[in-house]
Amino acid sequence: MNLARLRNVSVSLFLSIFVFFNASAIDLSLTENLEKQSFNDDWRFAKGELTGAEQVNFNDSKWRSLRLPHDWAIEGPFSKKYSARNGGLPVFGTAWYRKSFIVPIQSKDKLVSVTFDGVMANSQVYVNGQLVGERPFGYIGFQYDISKYLNATGEKNIIAVKVAPENYAARWYSGSGIYRNTWIEFNDPAHIKQWSTQISTHAVSDARAQVAVTTVIANSAGKKDLSIEFSIIDASGSVVASKVQKINDLTKKELIISEMLTVADPRMWDINDPYRYQVISKVQYKGKVIDIEKQPLGIRTIEFKVDDGFWLNGRRVEIQGVCLHHDNGPLGAVANMRAIERKLEIMQAMGVNSVRTSHNPPSPELVELADNMGILLQIEAFDTWKKPKHTVVNGYHKHYDEWSERDLTDMVKIHRNNPSVIMWSIGNEIYEQKKKDGWKYAKRLTEIVNKADPTRLVTAGLSDYPAFVKSKIADEIDIIGLNYKATEYADIIKRYPNKPILGSETSSVVSTRGEYHFPVKPLEKHPSKYVSSYDNYAPYWAYIPDIEWDALDKNPSVMGEYIWTGFDYLGEPTPYGGRDHGDKFYWNADWPARSSSFGAVDLAGFPKDRFYMYQSRWTTEPMVHVLPHWNWPNRVGQTIPVIAYSNAEEVELFVNGKSHGKKVMGVDKVRIPVELRYKKKMKHFDSPYRLQWDVKYQAGDIKVVAYNKGKVVAEKQIYTAGIPAQVQLTADRNVIDADGYDLSFITADVLDKESHFVPNADNLIHFKVEGPGEVIAVGNGDSATVEPFVADYRRAFNGKALVVVRSKKGQTGEITVSAYSKELNIKSITLTTK
Ligand code: GAL
Repeated sequence: MNLARLRNVSVSLFLSIFVFFNASAIDLSLTENLEKQSFNDDWRFAKGELTGAEQVNFNDSKWRSLRLPHDWAIEGPFSKKYSARNGGLPVFGTAWYRKSFIVPIQSKDKLVSVTFDGVMANSQVYVNGQLVGERPFGYIGFQYDISKYLNATGEKNIIAVKVAPENYAARWYSGSGIYRNTWIEFNDPAHIKQWSTQISTHAVSDARAQVAVTTVIANSAGKKDLSIEFSIIDASGSVVASKVQKINDLTKKELIISEMLTVADPRMWDINDPYRYQVISKVQYKGKVIDIEKQPLGIRTIEFKVDDGFWLNGRRVEIQGVCLHHDNGPLGAVANMRAIERKLEIMQAMGVNSVRTSHNPPSPELVELADNMGILLQIEAFDTWKKPKHTVVNGYHKHYDEWSERDLTDMVKIHRNNPSVIMWSIGNEIYEQKKKDGWKYAKRLTEIVNKADPTRLVTAGLSDYPAFVKSKIADEIDIIGLNYKATEYADIIKRYPNKPILGSETSSVVSTRGEYHFPVKPLEKHPSKYVSSYDNYAPYWAYIPDIEWDALDKNPSVMGEYIWTGFDYLGEPTPYGGRDHGDKFYWNADWPARSSSFGAVDLAGFPKDRFYMYQSRWTTEPMVHVLPHWNWPNRVGQTIPVIAYSNAEEVELFVNGKSHGKKVMGVDKVRIPVELRYKKKMKHFDSPYRLQWDVKYQAGDIKVVAYNKGKVVAEKQIYTAGIPAQVQLTADRNVIDADGYDLSFITADVLDKESHFVPNADNLIHFKVEGPGEVIAVGNGDSATVEPFVADYRRAFNGKALVVVRSKKGQTGEITVSAYSKELNIKSITLTTK
């Protein structure tokens, strides 16, 4: 041990003693590790301009301690002044995050870098008082080499991050702060450069697949005697291919290395069997491993056929897609693995096989989950290029010139090895569609994508037809993505006979879970500020799902659709408040309407009727669904339309045990009044995709029975409920990890004394947690309330509420969650955290 090292040891010992008295202040957990490690623990946070907060000696002892990721806006409070368009939440202002840390003693000769998966927005990162870098775009990951800013090994360092979201997202809720994960890495000066590895598969057959790997070795110290080993391991960890290359040319500081490996009898990555290999790259110096990188590998083939849609592994796969914004409802924008997984699980249960990350780069967690769960991704970069969408807000247009190349390149590099990604979108409903030279922008961005990933096609969500024909934007992209153009598909196909076509954004029906308004008529505002759930209502630019399905059935070359949206999201409360309207106050016209109703699933994750409507088209396991609910004491003797969704051949309706007859799917059509302004002649649509009976209401029960070839394959029964009497608690997972991130989503259903669901119950429920867990959010899917998400109580909305419980880091045992309500019996549920 040399003297310098001895000195470092004593400094560190001294600091450890100091830290003993100031426990949460310094992160001493970092160890020398060849792989990245979490940098999320022991941050401090405060809102405000806070002059000098980047300085080492700035006193942050009164700041709040927290663990990342964190979204301050979701903590509220709601206010009109933040605009309902953004969810009525404080995605504004400036805030600071600070953290003290010590790099391990061994790291003396290492390069130290920190990675942020996303900071909303306009971040500035300082280390020990010095500015390291700035990144305006809130949706992109970035890494900084901070080696030169660090103090001697073993001494305390301060990293400070200034964040100023200034209403960044413009058209929806962006969240705010360091809302995605952070990482630290200790690299040998000879290492694999970040996001440089590129993996592609070639000549894939049952017998073999060729895997091309290219990577960049950074070797700033000019080390000799280096080699790199690439190996492919299967899901069980066995090496199935491996090659070693000596690195001879050391004249360059960066060296591109390529290798071709062969996997025999490859198991394909597929939506039904998302089998994953990994490519492990090891840099060796004099035979010792000095860097390791792991990359995902899925072996699959994708093709886009002009006349026959999208093909995966040699067969046509219809895109059954949803557009999803990045927020996780009551948890805000925080990129929590389990919250995202749950979202995707609910989507898969609806029959979804693809997600469009509208309208910005996703978190790495979403992409990893899509790989693991067999979900195809369209990753989208921008909602705005140079031309702003709104004059009253700040948006990406301010950064387009300086940052678009960098942001787009990084987005592609970060996710280009993930098998789930099937195409890149360079933008959504971009205003350059109408500019004469719009094609120049599209050409530039397409070339940027191609440079970073020549293996996938480029699309964009085009909405302005025929403007995008004139501006030639469509000529510059590979796949024509069409937003709300169902009734123009035939036309557009004729115009672009050589381009594959996709419904990149469809439907945009609005509905509120559990709300039914009579009489059933076209969309208009309702005093409740909710939207009736008959699935008939779409704003003027949009249309009911039935019209899209009819268009897809008639134009089978179109590869499928991404509906707007899978989940409700915060902000954009159409039809309450406005849309794309310059005046921000217009959005508050119907306050507290503050979140969207476009979802097939509400903000709490509870399915609406539309969930079942899509299930009837997108799944094959026999199902049937019926609406509305059957609690109409003021409508006794009046006619109520009863609707069924099913994927079976026939459905029979029973009311209080009496049959109202069988109806045949596709034959017994339902006439739906529609408003399609650009297709003026269409006043109604005769839908073969739903069934309807008109029934005189009497209390009791209704039951739908579905048949295939005359045999019962599914049924559903709902009852007229009495007064609320009890709460039923159901956890989506009863065993969770004690890592301080894992979650259990617990649904509270209000039932009557016969245990029938009470569809209009609004009882206030308080939640209490005992043991190593905590309530971190509550919700109920109500789009027009200012009740806080970060609370331990919630009113039921149309019979349901949600409580989200998180484990505590390192604390195992039993967690008891109890629900209390004045009118209802107490209920408890026990979870285990391991
Ligand atoms: C689209 C837009 C989406 C959303 C949607 C609502 O035109 O791309 O971001 O605003 O309308 O229907």
